[in-house]
Amino acid sequence: MTIIPVPRTAIIVVAAGSGTRLAAGAPKAFVGIDARSILRHALEGVFAAAPAQVVVVAPAGLEGDAETEMRAAAGDRGDLGRVVTGGATRQQSVSAGLAALWGDVDTVLVHDAARALTPPSQIDAVMAAVTAEVGVIPVLPVVDTLKKVADGAVVSAVDRSELAAAQTPQGFPRGLLEAAYAAALAGGTEYTDDAALFAAAGHPVRHIDGSERAFKITTPADLERARHLLAPSAAPGILRVGIGTDVHAFGGEGNLWLAGLEWPGEQPLSGHSDGDAVAHAIVDALLGAAGLGDIGEHFGTSHPEYAGAHAEVFLARTRELLTAAGFRIGNVSVQMQANRPRFSSRRIEAERTLSAVLGAPVSVTATTTDRLGFPGRGEGISVTAVASVVTQDPQNR
Ligand code: CTP
Ligand code: MG
Repeated sequence: MTIIPVPRTAIIVVAAGSGTRLAAGAPKAFVGIDARSILRHALEGVFAAAPAQVVVVAPAGLEGDAETEMRAAAGDRGDLGRVVTGGATRQQSVSAGLAALWGDVDTVLVHDAARALTPPSQIDAVMAAVTAEVGVIPVLPVVDTLKKVADGAVVSAVDRSELAAAQTPQGFPRGLLEAAYAAALAGGTEYTDDAALFAAAGHPVRHIDGSERAFKITTPADLERARHLLAPSAAPGILRVGIGTDVHAFGGEGNLWLAGLEWPGEQPLSGHSDGDAVAHAIVDALLGAAGLGDIGEHFGTSHPEYAGAHAEVFLARTRELLTAAGFRIGNVSVQMQANRPRFSSRRIEAERTLSAVLGAPVSVTATTTDRLGFPGRGEGISVTAVASVVTQDPQNR
């Protein structure tokens, strides 16, 4: 018999608000985005993350409906979930969730059901970053220019580089969070979020990168945005293209790594990571298409964790970045200029490997350059990639 370990993490999903600003005629968590409610989408994200106890905090009188949504989202992990009744404020709702935690839990994440499209990877990243002393929140940089205003006048400018917009889930060591909640209750103070309450008790909070998809559904316009993002992919999307090139010289030890494959007996390429110029050109084309920066920013020498990494690691992470920003990969076309290796014998294998990691068709062609230039002299390899991506989010236009 396999014994499945009890999770040490719990996620409290607060869904007990009334949704005054959405004004959709029902408590916000039960408003439909598509055929599924805000709560159902939020819980599908939660159950797709690493296993955790899931406490759903529901509005009084709708506990049964919340239970139905929870069971539908949990699949065969319904044993991990339970529903409790919320309170008049968000803080009281979180308190109700805390009271329902299993004894085994040592890490607690608090998540707004209203952030219904939060990627599971964001939940996992918060879980992974919490320590016994430190709370963690996902944030996005503030893009607007900010002003302090009073009585119709602009009082002063605010330096936005010092600011960030907080998202959820917010993660904390359980004991310290419970003590901080008890102190807030005793002091009668309402905090704007769990991180503020935790910090007020004297504990440090760190931040990690949030994502655009974790936006909070607050107004009717936010609900429209969520509906756009979930529209079936057959719906006309907004197409964007990107280009990437990469050049590596032959050199170094070991075998060649190219197009995600190891080529025994072929001269390797030199470079940070494995020198796979095909993978690197694809990464730049995809990041460029989505307007997400370039390979140096996400994988350069300031990220030692990628030293020696192979194509699959780079491409899987790039796909995650695009998905989190609301993009689907359309296709990728790559051309390589090189005398060696003779590519045609392994083209199908390479295309299959790259396509599987990206979840989209990748085609690779190869040519020699009539002995001209550095590829023609056999000094290295030059690769150009073009990628298309599709978004349903008008804000990514
Ligand atoms: N929440 C809660 N209990 C409350 C108030 C809020 O569980 N008494 C939850 C909401 O369900 C939501 C999250 O806290 O998932 C963030 O709150 P918000 O977006 O403000 O939701 P509402 O309070 O429902 O919306 P509004 O403020 O417009 O009424
Ligand atoms: Mg509210």
